[in-house]
Amino acid sequence: MELKGKVTFITGGARGIGLSIARKFAEVGSDIAICDVNEKSLDEAASALKASGRQVMTGKIDVTKFEEVQSFIQKILDKFERIDILINNAGITRDGLLVRMSESDWDAVLDVNLKGTFNCTKAVSKPMMKQRGGKIVSIASIIGITGNPGQANYAASKGGIIAFTKSIAKELASRNINVNAIAPGFIETDMTLKLSEDLKNSMLKMIPLGKFGKTEDVANLALFLVSNDSAYITGQVIQVDGGMVT
Ligand code: NAI
Repeated sequence: MELKGKVTFITGGARGIGLSIARKFAEVGSDIAICDVNEKSLDEAASALKASGRQVMTGKIDVTKFEEVQSFIQKILDKFERIDILINNAGITRDGLLVRMSESDWDAVLDVNLKGTFNCTKAVSKPMMKQRGGKIVSIASIIGITGNPGQANYAASKGGIIAFTKSIAKELASRNINVNAIAPGFIETDMTLKLSEDLKNSMLKMIPLGKFGKTEDVANLALFLVSNDSAYITGQVIQVDGGMVT
């Protein structure tokens, strides 16, 4: 699979799953634009990605702010004159049981995970429609399918991404734009490092493949979903979870 001549925009691309997707796509020829709120990680990511020889653009952009997103996408279009792929990856958690969950923790998670996905998808959809093609992949979570105690806000945001994906896939199909979601299970990243050993051990027991996933496992599926090999796949949610949820 190759992405020569393609331009990819990845949100939250400064580390973790987003950076892994950026690396994989750059390796197979895509120019990369990443945004993140973490400026230090962004600079480190840019240096790492430039080693691929591809063009790399970064922006300290908060996906919850539509104007910021739109002006970054305009900069991408000014530089590359196209945008072929959007990966909605930026995400946060603010866990807590419902009775103790603050309104601000609810709002923060819904804003970044779900509204951020809406903002970026809306902003790329016009240029993609003009180009008569594009690929949009959003990183949901199996928690958006199963639910999880202590993660009502996160589950609602990820379930929302799944419903959003199915709707937008139907809206954009006639414009040759494929819209899919990936639902990872437990992937080793900074986000999951902060979980307790007890919780990690109990989760391991629920994974038939007997191990946690790697960021590359998600990146490999993302590459397939933006390649020509998946041209007839849209509106789908594909799990990368070691068999945890069936
Ligand atoms: P991470 O925390 O390592 O990376 C997320 C990135 O998003 C960070 O660089 C962060 O600065 C950025 N970000 C946060 N708020 C932002 C905002 N408002 N605007 C722009 N960027 C922002 O997390 P990880 O593990 O790489 O997760 C990536 C995605 O995968 C998230 O959507 C997460 O919910 C999802 N996911 C992760 C799983 C895991 O086990 N690690 C499992 C299922 C889903």
